[in-house]
Amino acid sequence: MSYTPQLRELIKRVEAARPERVKKNFPRMSPEQKEDVLKNFHPDYIESSMRGLAVGVNKGSRVPLELADLIEARSAVENLQIDLEKIDYDVDVLVVGGGGAGASAALLAQEQGADVLMVTKLRFGDANTMMAQGGIQGADKETDSPLIHYLDVMGGGHYTNVPELVRALTMDAPLSLKWLEELGAMLDKAPDGTMKSIHGGGTSRRRMHSARDYSGAEIMRTLRDEVKNRGIRVIEFCSVVELLLDEDGKAGGAILKNMETGEYQLARAKTVILAVGGSGRLHYQDFPTTNHYGATGDGLIMGYRAGAKLAFMDTIQYHPTGAAFPPQILGLLITEKVRGLGAEPINVDGEQFVYHLETRDVSSSAIIREVRERGKGVPTPTGIPAVWLDSPMIDMIHGPGTVEKELPAMVRQLGRFGVDIVREPMLIYPTLHYQNGGLLIDENGMTNVENLYCAGEGAGGIHGRNRLMGNSLLDIVVFGRRAGRHAGAKANEIKVKKLNLNHVAGYHNELESAGVDTGGRVSPILLPHYTHRNGD
Ligand code: FUM
Repeated sequence: MSYTPQLRELIKRVEAARPERVKKNFPRMSPEQKEDVLKNFHPDYIESSMRGLAVGVNKGSRVPLELADLIEARSAVENLQIDLEKIDYDVDVLVVGGGGAGASAALLAQEQGADVLMVTKLRFGDANTMMAQGGIQGADKETDSPLIHYLDVMGGGHYTNVPELVRALTMDAPLSLKWLEELGAMLDKAPDGTMKSIHGGGTSRRRMHSARDYSGAEIMRTLRDEVKNRGIRVIEFCSVVELLLDEDGKAGGAILKNMETGEYQLARAKTVILAVGGSGRLHYQDFPTTNHYGATGDGLIMGYRAGAKLAFMDTIQYHPTGAAFPPQILGLLITEKVRGLGAEPINVDGEQFVYHLETRDVSSSAIIREVRERGKGVPTPTGIPAVWLDSPMIDMIHGPGTVEKELPAMVRQLGRFGVDIVREPMLIYPTLHYQNGGLLIDENGMTNVENLYCAGEGAGGIHGRNRLMGNSLLDIVVFGRRAGRHAGAKANEIKVKKLNLNHVAGYHNELESAGVDTGGRVSPILLPHYTHRNGD
């Protein structure tokens, strides 16, 4: 479905104002203006979209309703006859999840001499890492430093981030980029051989490194090859449905489910690393999502049942530029790199209404305000709200051919539907992209449950209340490596004791004592329940 004649008519307004806009800088918002737009338009501020948890270590903490329902549900293993003495896999380190964090963790754990098993519920690499487009941050220029990066991350997170985690993230960033390159990742270079880098929303230096707009795919390709080349054991289509603890309450393994046969098996491990990603497929507040099919919050649910603390799960990231048209790609990512290269959000009258590189929470709120309050959205044939993202500006700023060279994935993705982003603006609206929080970790990636680690989007504390672009591809590497190294080394000192599911029984008792009506809900769900939504 390409643009209708009505949309093409409206594009003329965008074109008319473009030459002037290219010359001028739109003003940034003041801190007060940011606060105002966030409070009034950011979806997190809709009181009725979250509720306090009735049970567990975060009792009282607010989380999105869709997640609360799954946290306050009964375990998927409750009625299974599982012999906990029958160990199918006995390993040092169990890595759960086959994205970038899991792969990084597996590599570093193996370097400590650990026998590593990775299980992944879809194919190895079917993860948000693979779908990440715009880039990875890292202060590797003379004009930049980890300290400046640190300040940007803290500012982006509204100074709520756990400082030690931000320090780890930003200090490890240059060496993480070097590590990726040494493993074979082909990041974009300038003719003089230095890394190409641009701005992202909320960065004070150009430190966004990319592989065109296939950055995540390139990083995932590299890590997956390395895991395979080093002979690390990987079981695909195998998810974890519950963690196992030992008699001291320490993590000691997991119950696995073969996604193809439905069989259950048991893995005993000295340390367990949850690298299972986020929860975008829970479609908070009915938003579409950029996330991959398996992003159903499993790690949050199993970790919480085992006693791991959650942090910042009342803050969700809505990426300002999800595809709003054509409907076939609704909610999919239009990378922030488009704005990093200069494209501006424009309303139905051809006017810019927000500085193009405000942080994501502010940009999304400004777009929602433009549509809902000011009535300046672009009418789409499907009725989906939208504004323009003026991609043709990019070639005017950087020279002809830039869009095709820097954004080949975007050109292809929209081109399939007859939208030529070199010449025509895109239609965008905020989409559910990321959970800013997760299981609270320390600098080694360990949760408060001994021997249970978490890395990647499932982990909380690093980004505070809002993550900046490019710090997710970075955190999967930094905290994947840290968790892998620590869990691998620690495994050398551990003797696993007898395993049990007592925490699950205790959790069920707590639900009952709190009078929670679980309504037959069972979790983790592993895959989204699309057919069950809205009574379909
Ligand atoms: O817009 C993007 O390319 C997304 C990047 C990120 O979430 O870090």
